[in-house]
Amino acid sequence: MNSTSATSIVQLLKENPQNAKLVLLGGIIIFVVVTFFQSINKSRKVKPAIGITEPTAKLNKNRKFGHWIPDYEFQTPIPPAFENWSIKETRPIPYRAFKHKYAINMGIRNMEWDSWFELDNEWEKFHIHKLERVEERGTELYQTLPPARDAVYELLDEMWQYLPNRYPTLFKQKEYGLDNLVTGEVHVFKEGFRTEKQEDPALTAAKMIQDDFAIMMENEEGVYHLKAGAILLAGFWRLKDKLNMPLSMIHTSGDVPKYNEKLKSGMEKFFIRQPCDKPVVRNNYFIQTDDHLPWSTSIGSESEEGIGWYTAEPATHAEQLYFRSERQSLRRLPKSGAIVFTVRTYFLPIAELAQEPYIPRRLLNGMSTWDTDVQEYKGWHKYKDVIVPYLEEKAREQEANGLVQEKEVYPF
Ligand code: HEM
Ligand SMILES: *[C@@H]1O[C@H](CO)[C@@H](O)[C@H](O)[C@H]1NC(C)=O
Repeated sequence: MNSTSATSIVQLLKENPQNAKLVLLGGIIIFVVVTFFQSINKSRKVKPAIGITEPTAKLNKNRKFGHWIPDYEFQTPIPPAFENWSIKETRPIPYRAFKHKYAINMGIRNMEWDSWFELDNEWEKFHIHKLERVEERGTELYQTLPPARDAVYELLDEMWQYLPNRYPTLFKQKEYGLDNLVTGEVHVFKEGFRTEKQEDPALTAAKMIQDDFAIMMENEEGVYHLKAGAILLAGFWRLKDKLNMPLSMIHTSGDVPKYNEKLKSGMEKFFIRQPCDKPVVRNNYFIQTDDHLPWSTSIGSESEEGIGWYTAEPATHAEQLYFRSERQSLRRLPKSGAIVFTVRTYFLPIAELAQEPYIPRRLLNGMSTWDTDVQEYKGWHKYKDVIVPYLEEKAREQEANGLVQEKEVYPF
């Protein structure tokens, strides 16, 4: 009750005590009733404040498989500019994703939104590789199947926000899409600006980043299938072999060690449950016996069937060995509900890697603990006779110079 109504009631009391009592009583009753219903409403929490993502996120938790409800409330955080980022100077992040003891597990960690796409001074090299590959092999390397079309355009819309904010010296946001300030490429993809002969949106996305990527979509059984992507620099697997496959077959067809025993069920649950606001990353590593980033020619020709480590020539010298390490991310797009899987490859000579303090010993220890199935998968027998003595020598040199007690640095 405010002061003016209080004074007017006092006045009423003086003039007409009977009526005034009734007014006072009525006021008290209304006040009690309103407070009562307000408190019920609060305890039920029916309507959280605007801007909280709960309602759609909650509905999607109990969704019918394959029926994602577009979440218009979720917004991907816009990253700050990468300080001093330069296409000429910024070095690749030195992921050294190996431990002294190798273990098979999902190995996922939370991802900072700022690091969704990592670009560095190898961007131009990757870009040239990508354009050459597309020229040579075309749609073998990228695809957007019709059910994934909206998801790929949604990915592009997300890049439209992310890339020019994170790397303002490389990308400029335009009404129609993104301009590349270094190459002069104009990427037109925003709704309302697309043309009849629109290029495959998966290819457009691929041209802007160093990563390869795949779009995974849920069917009515809750199984995720590869429905779109651009796999241009994968080294040893081909999109055309895996397109449309479920997550499990993607892995079992590649003989991923202990997939069924150690990975399958955890991964399938993870995919079904991943919320929009919980992106993750994982890192892996391989040894390659040639210096070709896009496709490891030493295992066999990309145009042939029946290739793999078992068709590779054994390595003969340490200089031909390369360290190949992927940084993969997984996030769910809010509108389509599709999951975006990115694969960013880091690639450098073993000889360069082995210069880094403690690295030769740690890598050697890690590889020495591979089980036979991991050895098979990673082609161990094709380079072990070269890499073991080489790393042993480098490790001993370092240890003779006093580098012995490494603190555990992975996972970063
Ligand atoms: C939580 C998610 C995932 C986990 C834990 C996982 C795990 C693995 C592991 C352990 C390997 C063996 C090489 C390595 O150590 O990395 C592998 C290989 C592979 N993964 Fe995944 N993976 C995941 C998601 C995906 C997705 C979404 C795709 C979709 C394209 C994919 C495609 C592949 C392919 C193509 C290979 C190589 C198989 C081959 O050698 O033919 N993975 N994955
Ligand atoms: C960016 O460059 C400025 C000027 O050279 C320097 O003072 C600053 O420390 C740099 N910041 C980072 C994060 O490298």
